Amino acid sequence: MRTQVAIVGAGPAGLLLGHLLRAEGIDVVVLERQSADYVLSRIRAGVLERVTTDLMTRLGLDARMRAEGLPHDGFNLADGDRLIHIDIAGLTGKQVMVYGQTEVTRDLMDAAPARGLEIIYGAKDVALHDIDGDAPWISFTRGDKKERLDARFIAGCDGFHGPSRKAIPASVGKVFERVYPFGWLGILADVPPCNHELIYANHERGFALASMRSATRSRYYVQVPADEKVEDWPDERVWDELAIRLGPDAAAHMVRGPSIEKSIAPLRSFVFEPMAYGSLFLAGDAAHIVPPTGAKGLNLAASDVAYLSDALIRFFRANDGNDIGDYSRKALARVWKAERFSWSLTSLMHRFPDTDAFDRAMQIAELSYVASSKAMQTAIAENYAGLPL
Ligand code: APR
Ligand code: PHB
Repeated sequence: MRTQVAIVGAGPAGLLLGHLLRAEGIDVVVLERQSADYVLSRIRAGVLERVTTDLMTRLGLDARMRAEGLPHDGFNLADGDRLIHIDIAGLTGKQVMVYGQTEVTRDLMDAAPARGLEIIYGAKDVALHDIDGDAPWISFTRGDKKERLDARFIAGCDGFHGPSRKAIPASVGKVFERVYPFGWLGILADVPPCNHELIYANHERGFALASMRSATRSRYYVQVPADEKVEDWPDERVWDELAIRLGPDAAAHMVRGPSIEKSIAPLRSFVFEPMAYGSLFLAGDAAHIVPPTGAKGLNLAASDVAYLSDALIRFFRANDGNDIGDYSRKALARVWKAERFSWSLTSLMHRFPDTDAFDRAMQIAELSYVASSKAMQTAIAENYAGLPL
C-alpha cells in the first residue's frame, strides 16, 4: 500500500490531521491499534479553545458542537471558602467551548468515510522504517497478515505510549519531564452540574474540580495520592470529599447520583524535542503531555496539527519544504507556553505531599492576589482561553 502521509494513531490529533489533509486532496492512511469503540470509550477533558473549534468549523464538522456544546464566558478558582471569578470574555473577548473530547473524536470518526479518510482499526505491531530518508514506510499486522505502508511522510499521532517518538534515535532527542506525586480521581454522573461554570478548588485536603458535559451530565475530580486504588472510593466518599473541597456554596447545589465512569489518572508534564526527525513528525501526546489542570491536552494536539497540516499542504501544493523544516520550532514555542501554564495552575491549586505551612501560605497569598488583581486575572484568562497560533 502507498500513500502520501501515513498517520499513526486515530485519536484527536491523527483524525484532525487526516481530515485537514484530505480536505486539500492529499492522500492519507491512518493506522490505529485499537477498535473504534475502544477509542470512543476513553474519557478525557472537555474544554475547547478557539484554535480547536476553528479547525472543526474549517472542516465543516462543527454542527453538533455548536448545537450541543456549552460556550463558557468564564470559570472559577476557589480557595477553600470563596470563589474567584475569572471573566474570560470580559478580560479577553474570547470564550471557551465545553464539549467532550470523546464527542470531538466521534464527529471526526463519523465523517471519515464520506471524506475518503481511510482509517485501519486493529492495526497491530506498527513499526516505523527508514524515517531518516524521503521514503519512509510502516510495517503492521492486520488480522494475521503482515502489511506494508509506504509514504512520503509519517505523522506520529500515537499518544504518549506509541512507537513514533521511540523511533527517533536517543542521541537526537531530549526529554523534559515532571511526574507529580498525585493523581485525579474522576467521576462522570448523570446529574445537573453544581454551577454554570467550572470550579477549580484548592482546599487544605487537596484539589477538586467541578466540570460538566451537558445540562444533565457532570464531571468531577478529586486529587488523590498517586498510589490510590479506585476501589477505596465508593461514590459516597467521592461526593463527600467534593462537598468539602468545592466549598459550601457548590456543595449546596451539588446533586449526587451513581457514577457511570470512575477512574484515576496520573499527572505528568512531558516535552520531547525535537518534534520532527527526517520524514517523521510528532503531534499531540506523542510529543508532549500536560497535567489536566487547564485542559490544554487536546488543544495542544489541535495547534500542532494546524501547523503541521499547513506545512504539509504547502509541501504537496507548491513543492515548498520551508514550513516543514520549521514545524518543530513553531509547535514547540506554543507547547512550552501551555506547559508553563498547566504546570503553574497545577502548582497553585494542588496539595503536594511535602507542602509545609510556608508553601500553603504562598498558595493562599497568590490566590488572594489573583482575587484582587485584574492584571493577574487577565494573564490567567488569556492562557486559559488559549494563546494565539
Ligand atoms: N499503533 C497504532 N496506534 C497506536 C499505537 C500503535 N502502536 N499506540 C497508540 N496508538 C493510538 C492510540 O490507541 C490512540 O487512539 O494512538 C492514539 C493516540 O491518541 P491520544 O492518546 O488520544 O492522543 P492525541 O491524539 O495526541 O490526543 C491528545 O488526547 O490523550 C489525550 O490528554 C490528551 O487531550 C489530549 C489528547
Ligand atoms: C473535564 O471536564 O473533564 C475537564 C475540564 C477541565 C479540566 C480538566 C478536565 O481542566
